[in-house]
Parts: sequence; structure tokens; C-alpha cells
Amino acid sequence: MGTTLRFLLLLMWLSGLQLCSCDTDPQDAAALRSLMNQWQAAPPSWGQSDDPCGMPWNGVICSKSRVTILRLSTMGIKGTLSGDIGQLTKLQSLDLSYNSDLGGPLTPNIGNLKELTTLILVGCNFSGTIPSELGNLAELSFLDLNSNQFTGNIPASLGNLSNLYWLDLANNKLTGMLPISKGTTPGLDLLINTKHFHFNKNQLSGQIPEQLFSSQMTLIHILFDANQFTGPIPESLGLVKSLEVLRLDRNFLSGSVPSNINNLTNINELSLANNKLDGSMPDLTGMNNLNYVDLSNNTFEPSEVPAWFSTIQSLTALVVESGGLSGQIPEKLFSHPQLQQVILKNNELNGTLDMGSSISSQLQIVDFQNNSIASFILTSKYNNTVM
Ligand SMILES: *[C@@H]1O[C@H](CO)[C@@H](O)[C@H](O)[C@H]1NC(C)=O
Ligand SMILES: *[C@@H]1O[C@H](CO)[C@@H](O)[C@H](O)[C@H]1NC(C)=O
Ligand SMILES: *[C@@H]1O[C@H](CO)[C@@H](O)[C@H](O)[C@H]1NC(C)=O
Ligand SMILES: *[C@@H]1O[C@H](CO)[C@@H](O)[C@H](O)[C@H]1NC(C)=O
Ligand SMILES: *[C@@H]1O[C@H](CO)[C@@H](O)[C@H](O)[C@H]1NC(C)=O
Ligand SMILES: *[C@@H]1O[C@H](CO)[C@@H](O)[C@H](O)[C@H]1NC(C)=O
Ligand SMILES: *[C@@H]1O[C@H](CO)[C@@H](O)[C@H](O)[C@H]1NC(C)=O
Repeated sequence: MGTTLRFLLLLMWLSGLQLCSCDTDPQDAAALRSLMNQWQAAPPSWGQSDDPCGMPWNGVICSKSRVTILRLSTMGIKGTLSGDIGQLTKLQSLDLSYNSDLGGPLTPNIGNLKELTTLILVGCNFSGTIPSELGNLAELSFLDLNSNQFTGNIPASLGNLSNLYWLDLANNKLTGMLPISKGTTPGLDLLINTKHFHFNKNQLSGQIPEQLFSSQMTLIHILFDANQFTGPIPESLGLVKSLEVLRLDRNFLSGSVPSNINNLTNINELSLANNKLDGSMPDLTGMNNLNYVDLSNNTFEPSEVPAWFSTIQSLTALVVESGGLSGQIPEKLFSHPQLQQVILKNNELNGTLDMGSSISSQLQIVDFQNNSIASFILTSKYNNTVM
């Protein structure tokens, strides 16, 4: 008897709980409805109830009647993002990624979302400038604007985002110089907690500022490839000890590679290819975690094969096309256990090419086209291509 009663009480309590926690805050409900009205195609269940939190609309997640998460990736949303988004003041996470028909300018009202920690707009069609109001989002830790049509400069205000972990602006049409702090104006050099600078595939230009990097920084990935940067690689880069991936390829960088780059012992991917770097071929003997290295198509001084070809056992791909390298390739290179590719075409390598007696079982491509190699010795079994 008591059991039935208790069960009934529990049911009543549960349904009561549901009622009170599911009623959407009227301002949030109105804001969602306004967003929807700007869309020619909205997510599936939007508009089918008057209670986006309680009779939930797709991707709307609430806490205490307030909308806290909008998870609307790949929903086929079509249209623009109205300024009403700024009314969802308890929003912590906004993910509109991969709605390729969602675009137009990004409303500055995003800057009102003071509790936002995550903003993901990758693969949409947003255009115009990145609103400087994003710099007001003090809690933001993840900012991904990859693969849109953003133009103009990177706003200096982003330097105020002291909690930022991930900054991905890649594959847009951004121009101008990288902003650095000056007096009370913030800049990217202040982002000492950020791990990812992904700025590749834009039209950014000017020098990479010496002031951008410091020993306080904790960056893991610097992707600056496929831009229009000029001038030297800043020496301060050698202070960012945490760095694992450094891609500066396909720019117009010149001058010699700073020797302290060799202090970056955690680097596993390094590409400096397709620039105008000169001076001597960099010494990388300190990078004993290096997997992938590409130094092709620069204007390094002619040099003998560097020592690090033999010493870095972690190498998986060694690519130095048109590197001005001469002399004989050490057998030891081919024995690095993870080695998959050796591309050294268009150099002045000479003497005998002997791949030695313990060739990496992973090796697939060996390209020595257009060198001055006199003879080739292959003592052990190797089935794959040698050019
Ligand atoms: C993206 O926006 C541009 C205008 O900025 C427009 O011309 C283009 O059609 C849009 N692309 C898609 C896939 O919606
Ligand atoms: C950056 O933050 C500082 C200190 O909170 C503030 O005074 C300044 O106005 C902010 N600058 C921008 C451009 O947002
Ligand atoms: C970094 O490299 C420079 C130049 O190669 C060298 O003088 C310096 O001692 C190195 N610093 C550290 C901390 O390893
Ligand atoms: C070097 O430059 C040539 C000619 O521009 C290009 O075809 C080749 O792909 C470049 N090599 C690398 C590794 O980027
Ligand atoms: C062969 O390599 C040299 C550089 O060592 C380069 O100048 C020349 O253009 C290359 N020839 C061909 C046919 O690629
Ligand atoms: C290879 O080239 C270097 C520098 O050009 C030269 O000193 C050396 O004698 C050459 N070695 C052979 C075996 O041809
Ligand atoms: C060469 O090919 C044979 C048969 O296709 C294969 O059994 C052997 O493992 C290969 N050797 C190497 C070094 O890849």
C-alpha cells in the first residue's frame, strides 16, 4: 500500500519537476523565434512547439529555463544570423558549423554573450569583417571561424581573450598585419594561454612581428602557411618551447632561419617550404621528435648534406627539393625505423647512393631525380619506388 502511494508521489514530483524546469524563458523563446524567422531553411523541429526548452527544438539545450547551448552543426540552415542571438545572454556554446548556406555579416551582438565559452562557425558562409566585439567574450576558450569568407584584419581585441585555447581563422580572406599590443591596445602577443594559432590560407601580409612570440607562450600549433608574409622569421619564435607543429610554407619569408629554432625540441612537423629563405640550411639536430620536415624551394646557400639527416631517427618524411645540397647521402638515413618518404630532387647530390643494409620497412617513396649521383647500390630488399 505504502509502496503504491510513494510511487504516485514520486510520479507527481517528477512531472512537477519537469513542468517547472522546462518552461523556456520568454526572452530566450522570442530570440530563437526571431533567429528562425531569418532562415529560409531552419532545423527540423524548430517552431513545432512554443517551448524550445521543454518540447525541445533540435539542438537547443537549456538549464533553468535559459538556453545555454545551441548545437546546430550540419542542419542545412539557410539565411543570415540575426542580431537577436545577442539576447541569449546565458548562452555558453554556439555551434553553427557546416551550414554552408548560412552567411552574411557576423552580428556584433555576439559580443553580448558574456558567458560564451565556445563559438564554432567553421564551414559556413559568413562574410565581412570579424567583429571586434568578439574581444568582449572574456570566457571564450574555443573560437573557430575556419572556412568562411571573412575579409579585413584580425581584430586586435582578440588579444583580450585571456582564456582562449583555440584560435582558428584559417581559410578565409583576411588581410593586413598580425596585431600586436601597444599601450592599452591589445594584440595577439597577449594570448599566452592559447595553444593553437591557425591562420593559414588567408592573405595576411607584412612581417611576422618579433613581439608576437615570447617564452611565456604555450602554443602547440602555429599554422601561418599560404599567406603573404614577408621579411625574416622572428627570432622570438625559438622561445616558444611548447611548439609541436610549425608551418610557415608558401609565404614570401626571406633572410636566414634563426639558429635558435633548433631549441624547439618538441617539434614534430616543420615546413618552411616555398619561401625565399637564404643563409645556411638550418641545423635541426636538436629536434629529436621531428617526423615531417619540408624545406623545399628556398634559396639556401649550397651546402653539404646536413648532419641531422643521420641523427634524427624519428623522421617519417624528409623533403628538401631544390635545397642546394651536395655530397653523398648517408646510408643511416634509410634506416630510421619510421621513414616513409625521402624527396631530395633537384639538388647536387653526388657520389654513390647506397641505401644500406637496414632499410626502413615503412619506406615507400625515394626521389633523387635531377642530382649528380654516379652510382646506386641496393644491397637489401626494397620493392618500392626509387626515382
Ligand atoms: C556565400 O555568400 C556569397 C555572398 O557573400 C554569395 O554570393 C554566395 O552565393 C554564398 N554561397 C553559398 C554557398 O551560400
Ligand atoms: C581590452 O581589455 C582591457 C582591459 O579589460 C580594456 O580596457 C580594453 O578596452 C579592451 N580592449 C578592447 C579593444 O576590447
Ligand atoms: C637556444 O639557442 C641559442 C642559439 O642557438 C643558444 O645560444 C641558447 O643557449 C639556446 N637556449 C636554450 C634555453 O636552449
Ligand atoms: C617546389 O616548386 C615547384 C615549382 O614551383 C613545385 O612544383 C613543387 O611542388 C615545389 N615542391 C614542394 C615540395 O613544395
Ligand atoms: C635540376 O636541378 C637544378 C638545381 O640543382 C635546377 O636548377 C634545374 O632547373 C633542375 N632541372 C630540372 C629539369 O628540373
Ligand atoms: C661531390 O661534390 C662535392 C662538392 O661539390 C665535391 O667536393 C666532391 O668531390 C664530390 N664527390 C664526388 C664523389 O664526386
Ligand atoms: C617485397 O614484396 C614481397 C612480395 O610482394 C613482400 O613479401 C615483401 O615483404 C616486400 N619487401 C619489402 C621490404 O617491402
